[in-house]
Amino acid sequence: MNYPKIIKKEHESFIKFIYASIMVKEADVKHKLNDIALFKYRHMIWAMQDAVKEGVKFNMDFDYEEILKIKVNTEDELIEVLKEDLNQNIALYEGVDNPTINRFRSDDKFFLEEMNFFDVEGEITAFNENKTLKGIDLDETSKSALVFFLMEETFKEYELITIYSFLKVHSNIAIANSAFTDLAYDSIYHLKRFASLAAEMGILTLPRQIPHDKYENIGIVEFLKENIEEELDAEKQCLILAEKIGDKYLKDFLLFISRQEVYHGELLQRALNSINS
Ligand SMILES: [Fe+2]
Ligand SMILES: [Fe+2]
Repeated sequence: MNYPKIIKKEHESFIKFIYASIMVKEADVKHKLNDIALFKYRHMIWAMQDAVKEGVKFNMDFDYEEILKIKVNTEDELIEVLKEDLNQNIALYEGVDNPTINRFRSDDKFFLEEMNFFDVEGEITAFNENKTLKGIDLDETSKSALVFFLMEETFKEYELITIYSFLKVHSNIAIANSAFTDLAYDSIYHLKRFASLAAEMGILTLPRQIPHDKYENIGIVEFLKENIEEELDAEKQCLILAEKIGDKYLKDFLLFISRQEVYHGELLQRALNSINS
C-alpha cells in the first residue's frame, strides 16, 4: 500500500471539498460538501496515523494543478470535478483490504451516490473580484484592509491546519496531541469563515503548498514557542483590522476570532507546560 500517495490524495480532496463548500450557494449542498470535507480531513489524518505506525515517511505536499481543477465557471462543473476526485480516491484503494481503507472506500462510495442528488445550476462567483459584501458598507480604506487580511489569513489558517495535523500524528504526549486536534479544528473553522467572506467578495484564493521546514525536523518545544507567537500575532492582526472597520457585525466577528486566537496561545502554553513538567 502506498501511504504517501493516499495521504496526498486525501489531502487534495479535503482542500477541494472545503473550498467547494464555500463556493456553492445552495444551503443543503453547502452543508453536505462541508461534511464530506471534514470526513476527507479525517481520512487524511487516519492514513497519516497508519503510516506513522508502520514507520512510513510522508510529507504534506499537494499538487496545485489538482486543486486548480475546482476553479470552474458553474456549480454543475464543480460537482463533476468533485465526483471525479472521489472516483480517483476509490481507484487508489483497489486491492487493499484493511479496516482503514475499507472505511474510506465505504464513505467515498456513499458520498458519490449522494452527490447524484445535488441539484445545482448557479454560477461560481467566488473569483469575480466584485469586492462587495451584502448589507455591509465599507469605505475604500477598510475595504482594501479587509481584502488584504482575508487573503493573508486564509493562507495562514490553511498552513496551521497542515502543521498542527502533521505534529499531532507525530506526537505521543496526550496534552499536546489533544491541543493540536483542537487547534486544527478551530483553524478549519477560521479558514471557512475567512474564505467565505473572500468568496462573497469574489477574491477567493486557493492554498499554496507549505515548505517542509515549517513542519519537518522541528523540536516540539521550539515549535510550541514559535506558534504561541504566531497565535498572538493572529490576535493582533484581527484587532488592528477591527479597529479600521466601521461595520458593527464585522468588527464583532473579528473580535470574536481574536479571542479564539488568545485561547490558541493558551492551549499551546498548556502543551508546553506538560512537556516541561
Ligand atoms: Fe485562526
Ligand atoms: Fe489560531
